[in-house]
Amino acid sequence: WMATAAPVAITADRMVDVVEGKVINQAVIVVDGNKILAAGQARSVNVPQGARVIALGDHTLMPGLMDMHVHLTSDATKHGYKRLSVSLPRATITGVKHARQTLEAGFTTVRNVGAPGFADVALRDAIDEGDVPGPRMFVAGPSLGVTGGHCDSNLLPYEFHEKSEGVADGPWEVRKAVRRNIKYGATVIKFCATGGVLSKGTKVGAQQYTQQEMKALIEEAHLRGLTVATHAHGTSGIKTAIRAGVDSVEHGSLLDDEAIALAKEHGTYFSMDVYVTEYILNEGAKAGILEESLAKERTVGKQQRDNFRKAVEAGVNMVFGSDAGVYPHGDNPKQFARMVKFGMSPMQAIQAATINAATLLKQQDNLGSLSPGKYADIVAIPGNPLQDMSKMEQVSMVMKDGDVVLNRLKM
Ligand code: ARG
Repeated sequence: WMATAAPVAITADRMVDVVEGKVINQAVIVVDGNKILAAGQARSVNVPQGARVIALGDHTLMPGLMDMHVHLTSDATKHGYKRLSVSLPRATITGVKHARQTLEAGFTTVRNVGAPGFADVALRDAIDEGDVPGPRMFVAGPSLGVTGGHCDSNLLPYEFHEKSEGVADGPWEVRKAVRRNIKYGATVIKFCATGGVLSKGTKVGAQQYTQQEMKALIEEAHLRGLTVATHAHGTSGIKTAIRAGVDSVEHGSLLDDEAIALAKEHGTYFSMDVYVTEYILNEGAKAGILEESLAKERTVGKQQRDNFRKAVEAGVNMVFGSDAGVYPHGDNPKQFARMVKFGMSPMQAIQAATINAATLLKQQDNLGSLSPGKYADIVAIPGNPLQDMSKMEQVSMVMKDGDVVLNRLKM
């Protein structure tokens, strides 16, 4: 015999209906076990007898936030050569701390797009088995990339024979790498389609992988029922990946009109990290980021912001992706105010981090809105964040899977 916990009714002055794109006043959400039973305007929702009531007053309820681009096992204070001194076990332990910080910032789901040694798989399993607190994790394992590309490790000279685990060249090698990642627990595939900012010796704008390789990689992942995210700043890499069927383009800095049109035609999602520039340029040198990377960031950041606005105005599918790990975990919500500053409405920014992300992950039946039957992943933001998006940085309460995992209101 097991006692069934009473249902919980959370009330607040406002609730965000991300499906309809509207705010509901005087709202209540009824949670039964780990699922949402009902949600809506208080007078139209039936609250079961004996429900435990959490009355939040001047707060805005919304679905648990979802970040589609994090690296939980990366430490934002250790970049460049500093990162070479971090062992895999050490990075994994830091990941435990980062998982908690991310959850306590309101992010109940993340997509971890790249981790050496399948440390993200271990972290996900530890969270799912209840050993440590953290968000729901969709995990990539090692990111795949060409020899010497952004997803390789290029810091040491030849005689060290250093290379990243995700290096794979040629259509059959990339297929095999996808199969290997799935074997060891990956639930999403990440690859690098262009150079990057933080990698040594790569050109941000230059394509990596041929169209043939990208097609093989993406087809292999799709055959197995996984989605694919690609790191892509450069224009030709972005377009080639979209044509090859990629599910999301990460960064997307050097978009052009054709890339936007292609994304609309293919239903591709853009995950554009429009906050991280500020951290890289302000704190990056101290954290070990190489001067060549800082120089790349100085040109890329501005173009990315301008292109973010163009993509939003064109109506491309947008998700919230921060690249936390490059900047401190837990600071993920700082990106919300920037997304609004660079062209989104507050509602669009919240949708990017909820229903759009759930749809990209093919989890729209389970996650991403406060709809009955979905998992009870809920956050409460003080006041009305639709009037001031910086409020997203001060979450008061976080519920994940029906459990209150953070409550700053002591009730
Ligand atoms: N991980 C990315 C890279 O190294 C970070 C890019 C950050 N810059 C930006 N403007 N989004 O390429």
